[in-house]
Amino acid sequence: MSGLFITFEGGDGAGKTTQSQLLATWLESRGYEVVHTREPGGSSLGDSVRNVLLHGGHVFERAEALLYAADRAQNIAEVVRPALERGAAVVQDRYIDSSLAYQGAGRTLPQDEVRRINEWASEGLWPELTVLLDADPKIAITRRAAAGEKADRLEREAAEFHERVRAEYLKLAAAEPERFLVLDATQPIDALHAQIADRVAPLVEARG
Ligand code: TYD
Repeated sequence: MSGLFITFEGGDGAGKTTQSQLLATWLESRGYEVVHTREPGGSSLGDSVRNVLLHGGHVFERAEALLYAADRAQNIAEVVRPALERGAAVVQDRYIDSSLAYQGAGRTLPQDEVRRINEWASEGLWPELTVLLDADPKIAITRRAAAGEKADRLEREAAEFHERVRAEYLKLAAAEPERFLVLDATQPIDALHAQIADRVAPLVEARG
């Protein structure tokens, strides 16, 4: 596959969308066709799964893990693989690491099982680079309250849940330092973008 697959991870409100959008524009200016997508929600199934997951009633843990994996299976087959096969750059907000952090560490489902269903769902597709925007979850809560935004079903989880999510992300990053770029999300937007572009530049050059 000749395309470039880059994912963004981090807690809620860490600034993933802003940074992935900036990277998408940067890649376009270097001649790439860019597909900017997100999970949950990137595919034709996405909006319905997203609604069930984020705005519906109680979803049991295993059902939640499977719904995220189902959304992922559809998004990878319908959007991501075809884009990579035609040589595009796919920039995606959230991927399997989100399930490992939220369903694995957050919900405390067995990590190896969460990994297994997701590798099955994606047929083992992993990104070349994952940007982790790391921040204290308390900052996101304050930010959301200041913006007057309503929390969704996962955002309403207790502080300890979000602490576990953050710790798991850092653990995943430490286990795969060559795939992850970990950045302190409290830095200014421009500074973050510059570091991300520096990391992506050699990947673009390697493709000529
Ligand atoms: P979203 O609005 O995309 O969150 P944000 O803008 O904060 O990134 O909502 C996604 C929510 O779903 C978020 O709380 C994290 C959660 N999630 C999981 O629990 N597991 C997953 O596999 C994915 C992709 C997301």
